[in-house]
Amino acid sequence: MSNRTLTMIKPDAMKNGYAGAIIDMISKAGFKIVALKQLKLTAEKAGEFYAVHNARPFYGELVSFMSSGIIIAAILEKENAVADFRKLIGATNPAQAEDGTIRKKYATSLGENAVHGSDSDENAKIEGDFFFSALERF
Ligand code: CMP
Repeated sequence: MSNRTLTMIKPDAMKNGYAGAIIDMISKAGFKIVALKQLKLTAEKAGEFYAVHNARPFYGELVSFMSSGIIIAAILEKENAVADFRKLIGATNPAQAEDGTIRKKYATSLGENAVHGSDSDENAKIEGDFFFSALERF
């Protein structure tokens, strides 16, 4: 069990003005922000981040959406971070997300689902390294 996870606030939530409310929910749930930046992914970098999904039918749509606007990427720290954060964000499809979760409150659809959360400790490390150097983590 690791104590870190990687999140992205996706272009839909950024455009809809939900970034502040989402960061507030993350902080109130007990996550410490270890690193944070705002950026716009190129299609190439979005494709690299989601390479694990490159055989899925939604891959093209996912890459195009994730490179369509500004995002916020952050490393979060808390005991049991990966599992607790996935609980806080709710199911991938907001229609199936529980009340009170970030996706239930702020996501648009399955493809435009407001936030990303790492699905394992191993991927949390890979994804954190994708966005942040050692000098950018505190
Ligand atoms: P995320 O947790 O960032 O990881 C992979 C993403 O692929 C997921 O959130 C969804 O936004 C997206 N995704 C998963 N399934 C579908 C689908 N059937 N159609 C479009 N996008 C999807």
